[in-house]
Amino acid sequence: MSTTATMANSSESERMADPNWWRQAAVYQIYPRSFSDSNGDGIGDIKGITAKVPYLKSLGIDAVWLSPFYPSALADGGYDVDDYRNVDPKLGTLEDFDEMVAALHAAGIKLIADIVPNHSSDRHEWFREALASPKGSAARDRYIFRDGKGENGELPPSDWDSVFGGPVWERITEPDGAPGQWYMHIFAKEQPDFNWDNPEVRQDFLKTLRFWSDRGVDGFRIDVAHGMAKDLSEPLPLKADLEAKAGADGFIDGSHPFWDRDEVHEVYAEWRKLFNEYNPPRTAVAEAWVHETRRARYASPEGLGQAFNFDLLQADFEAPKFKKIIMDNLLAAKETGASSTWVFSNHDVVRHATRYGLPKGNATAAQGTNAAQDVTATEPKGQDGKAWLLAGGPAEELDVELGLRRARAASLLMFALPGSAYLYQGEELGLQEVAEIREFERQDPAFFRNKGVEIGRDGCRVPLPWSVEGTSLGFGDGPAHLPQPHWFSKYAVEAQDGIEGSTLELYRTALRLRRELQADEELEWVETGNPEILHFRRPGGWQSVTNFGDTAVDLPAGTVLVSSAILEEGKLPANTTAWLR
Ligand code: NOJ
Repeated sequence: MSTTATMANSSESERMADPNWWRQAAVYQIYPRSFSDSNGDGIGDIKGITAKVPYLKSLGIDAVWLSPFYPSALADGGYDVDDYRNVDPKLGTLEDFDEMVAALHAAGIKLIADIVPNHSSDRHEWFREALASPKGSAARDRYIFRDGKGENGELPPSDWDSVFGGPVWERITEPDGAPGQWYMHIFAKEQPDFNWDNPEVRQDFLKTLRFWSDRGVDGFRIDVAHGMAKDLSEPLPLKADLEAKAGADGFIDGSHPFWDRDEVHEVYAEWRKLFNEYNPPRTAVAEAWVHETRRARYASPEGLGQAFNFDLLQADFEAPKFKKIIMDNLLAAKETGASSTWVFSNHDVVRHATRYGLPKGNATAAQGTNAAQDVTATEPKGQDGKAWLLAGGPAEELDVELGLRRARAASLLMFALPGSAYLYQGEELGLQEVAEIREFERQDPAFFRNKGVEIGRDGCRVPLPWSVEGTSLGFGDGPAHLPQPHWFSKYAVEAQDGIEGSTLELYRTALRLRRELQADEELEWVETGNPEILHFRRPGGWQSVTNFGDTAVDLPAGTVLVSSAILEEGKLPANTTAWLR
């Protein structure tokens, strides 16, 4: 082996062993059923991921975050887990999983597994046992069962709504056939909530975290990290009273009966002890849709260590908004000792290349689910985007070119920021949201439970196009489980690989440079006198400058390292980011 190769390997193994590897990592989210299908059944699988490890390596990411891959009836895209310590047979086996971990690690890529602790699926053996057991039994106590109100218990225990629409309570039939108790489900009725006051539930999750950590999983993404802890003491408050108390900013004091209660951090303190038994310690990132003043608790080093910040994802493409969000989050991260997180797209929201091509005000365009998680939201945000999606866009109001141009500028800006960048499969191809999915093809419970109000999240979950031709554009040998539109092929990996200026090559260049240039987590703003320009320096003397405005501006002095669009006679054009040194 040459000296250069040995040096590269040793720095790679140092990076893999570094306990701080996560602080400025580029993390690529894989939604497994839509990534790559190795056996032609139309569903992406674990072997499909393993086969694409060279692609992931060529992208220059540090870690993969794998959305749920556990046995599941797919009532909510895998976030309804039947068995936390197994692989969905539709996706492969535990052996396939081990092979995937080995291949990722050999390529210098870490693996973050999605953990879903707020609820299981209604097919989980514990829930089946609860249904078969009498009221008041130990089996029922692992979930949240209550008697109904009304003369015969025919009314739900409270008037709360679930996130996917409809009541938060579902009535069961008792083993003797009589109408019975009600169980709580914040999400779909196939997702009963666990009772986190039950020690068996706590123990079982510790076992699960250990199971995957022992198998080489490097970190965890915690689904609905702000759920779990609940205060359901009677009388249960009315929905209207909760809404009135929340005001415009949501709950800020931890007194909501099931969102963001302080007790949830006791669970994470216990998990942290377990994570720290490993070398390097296992990492965790919280999915917590909480008031910004309460996010830091989730990111504390004594807790999960990092929390998603969805502020940029919810903002329009505007310089002052971006600047405030970046400043606030860097400050908050500094105060807790965590590093910040940045994200524009994931499996729950309309892809950012589409959002930025819609009229402003569509930052959360239409998906609605996350807006609904905020008990204060009466309407999904982004009404125009909703209309566009419900009408089966793309309609005139979507400017695909502008959307992609801004998405490229935003992503390049994100890669220049201190902290971790989370990207979602397909954004490196500049993929647009798919609106043209027919009703009978849709899968998302948000669509079915809330028909006509929310279009659901299928549009960002359509299987990736790998090649420009073929049954499912190289995704697999059979038709994809969600249909790919005809225009998908122009975004295919094959159409962009090695093509200068393609979005794929922009991501590769940016991620390679980011790895070479990243040093301390410092950022120094440069005053430009132009409110449309965001310009900052990073340690080591490199700089990022973004033009959010409509006209080209002069570039600062320096050598251009990469730009999200072609420069115009040495100037930085509208909706463009450039890095310089
Ligand atoms: C958040 C996940 O990202 C989303 O996809 C899921 O529907 C809910 N949590 C419920 O698990």
